[in-house]
Amino acid sequence: KKIAIVAGGYSGEYEISIQSAATIAKQLDATRYQPYTIVIGHRNWAYTAPDGKVYEVDKNDFSLPLPTGKVTFDAVFIGIHGTPGEDGRLQGYFDMLGIPYTGSGSVSSAITFNKAYCNKIVRDLGIVHIAKSVHALYDQPETWANLLDVLHLPVFVKPAEGGSSVGMSKVKTAEELPAALEKAFREDKQVLVEEFVKGRELTIGLYRGADGVLHPLPITEIVTTKEFFDYEAKYTPGKSQEITPAQTSAAVTSLVQRTAMALYNKLNCKGIVRVDFIYETHSDQLFFLEINTMPGQSENSIVPQQVRAAGLTLTEFYGIVLEACMK
Ligand code: DAL
Ligand code: MG
Repeated sequence: KKIAIVAGGYSGEYEISIQSAATIAKQLDATRYQPYTIVIGHRNWAYTAPDGKVYEVDKNDFSLPLPTGKVTFDAVFIGIHGTPGEDGRLQGYFDMLGIPYTGSGSVSSAITFNKAYCNKIVRDLGIVHIAKSVHALYDQPETWANLLDVLHLPVFVKPAEGGSSVGMSKVKTAEELPAALEKAFREDKQVLVEEFVKGRELTIGLYRGADGVLHPLPITEIVTTKEFFDYEAKYTPGKSQEITPAQTSAAVTSLVQRTAMALYNKLNCKGIVRVDFIYETHSDQLFFLEINTMPGQSENSIVPQQVRAAGLTLTEFYGIVLEACMK
């Protein structure tokens, strides 16, 4: 089967996406699938042939006009973090063309990608704790004029539609807040300002097989030497420790798994998802941080670690996810 792996995108996570797509391309079972990596950029959507020649995708039907003939795809493996691969845009495009793709549909992707709207929906489900937060809109300064009347410091300031902690800050004093807002607003006109919850950072991947069964992967605990798990801590070896499987009690393991599975189902997710939580030890409460419908897939990323800890190879794992999307 011919599989397009789409990579790149228009966000600050472009480089991470190139790494994720490289892992997927390398690990896809070559006896079953013929992968074509297509990099989506501002200038073009391009495939680079083994001889170095570059061919542009025909966006009318997402085909590749190669000298040997037009290539059409049986499925697309989406490997783009951020817009347009994680926020529902490409999902809507492939829906219109009737081409199957891995991962969640356009509405689930769009909702989960916006941290502020996702928080409102998850809060409404009533199945997990959520820190108090404010949805600040750049064009409506009244939404962020008196933040500290509503929220207690420290707070996290996050672009609502972002990833890999780009544009994000932890704010401990009132004086730091304006600069943090300015930084986040540079990334996105919507910002989530959220109270900090002190606890253990636990994250769990999940995937649904072609048989329809939803599988939780082992949990990872993130222990960072930095103030929080920022871009540098995420992608610089040694800046953080990722313990997979996490050393959590049976009760906490079950709480994290059950909550993540319920969120996956309630938000109608598909394919690979990773849900991030903070477990507040003293209160024994689990707090929701975010759902990632396009979690990182570089060789050292968290989900690949969890897949290996589950006793699966990445080749088996990506095969399962691909077959599920084509069913
Ligand atoms: N946004 C990064 C890639 C992640 O969630 O893994
Ligand atoms: Mg994220």
